[in-house]
Amino acid sequence: MLVYIAPKNIFGDFPLENESIIEVENLTKTFNDFVAVDDISFDVKKGEILGLLGPNGAGKSTTLRMLSTLARPTKGTATIGGYDVVKNDTNVRKLIGIVSEKMIMYNRLTARENLRFFGSLFNIPKDVLAKRIEELLELVQLTKWKDSQVGTFSTGMRQRMNVIRALLNLPQVLFLDEPTMGLDPQSSVEIREFIKKLNRENKTTIIITTHMMVDADLLCDRIGIMDHGKIVALDTSTNLKKLISGVGTTILNLEMANLTSELVETVRALKCADSVTQENSTHLKILVHGDEAFDSVIDAIRAKNGKIDSMENLQPTLEDVFLHLTGHQVRDTADQKMPMATHRRFGAPQGRTR
Ligand SMILES: Nc1ncnc2c1ncn2[C@@H]1O[C@H](COP(=O)(O)OP(=O)(O)O)[C@@H](O)[C@H]1O
Ligand SMILES: [Mg+2]
Repeated sequence: MLVYIAPKNIFGDFPLENESIIEVENLTKTFNDFVAVDDISFDVKKGEILGLLGPNGAGKSTTLRMLSTLARPTKGTATIGGYDVVKNDTNVRKLIGIVSEKMIMYNRLTARENLRFFGSLFNIPKDVLAKRIEELLELVQLTKWKDSQVGTFSTGMRQRMNVIRALLNLPQVLFLDEPTMGLDPQSSVEIREFIKKLNRENKTTIIITTHMMVDADLLCDRIGIMDHGKIVALDTSTNLKKLISGVGTTILNLEMANLTSELVETVRALKCADSVTQENSTHLKILVHGDEAFDSVIDAIRAKNGKIDSMENLQPTLEDVFLHLTGHQVRDTADQKMPMATHRRFGAPQGRTR
């Protein structure tokens, strides 16, 4: 667990909560005939963490790029702090910070030199910037490595650099595009802790995109589920799960040695069964509704001479919510592309010894 020194005073006045700071209406982005973001509308309250959860290609990054003035909407509007992202883009840029996959850091420059360079792009007096850089490096525990070249840093350290780079102008709104992508589990935990702390102590409003259920579930006050450019549902994790866990709805996991396609089809045909997924040659996952459902599924399988080796009854997860709403799994298209970074000790730059 990390201990950060919170830069409470450096972020200025805390904004009022429960007031919309981001308002998005009918936002649309097309590339030629292809609709990447399809008529989405939502508000984000001050101090809120909103997650956009969806598989690769859902339109999450394009949405963030439009909100952060990096891409022009084809249709619709978005405002940050009352400023229109197209008409008042200069004002919007003063209020926001963005952390994206495509961030550039200069490998030959040290941590401090990189931050000084990017900080100089904002109109921050030199001495103020110098002090802020020290505070931000301390905030993510990189002070020790401030004079090391960024090219020697581990993936986790680089990501922490990306995050503080986005904080140089002390933004009220922070956009994070897949902040844990490619990080080892330990670094993911650290980044999540940092995001939470930033939000809690500075009341920074955050939109985070992710295809990882765990990010969405652990971090976000509300989650917008995105698929094919649309937001198909937006609510708290608890309420999203209630969407499918109406009275008596549970997930039934069955292990069957003789799981044939005929058995799977038999279960699919049942009224009380939904989102029936064959996970592998022996494992069938079923969403069942109603008190009688459990018995009906078992009876139907027995009637076809299905042999149940084991069964498990679970409450739905966000993955189940996604499947229920879209008809497919997030990980169908996303997870196999996840690079697994090798684990490195926190704080130790790559290729160097302490
Ligand atoms: N500059 C672009 N030109 C053409 N198509 C694009 C461009 N940017 C994104 N797309 C397409 O828009 C869709 C949504 O992309 P993106 O917003 O990156 O999704 P996500 O971040 O959810 O993975 C994808 O099909 C992608 O190929
Ligand atoms: Mg993306």
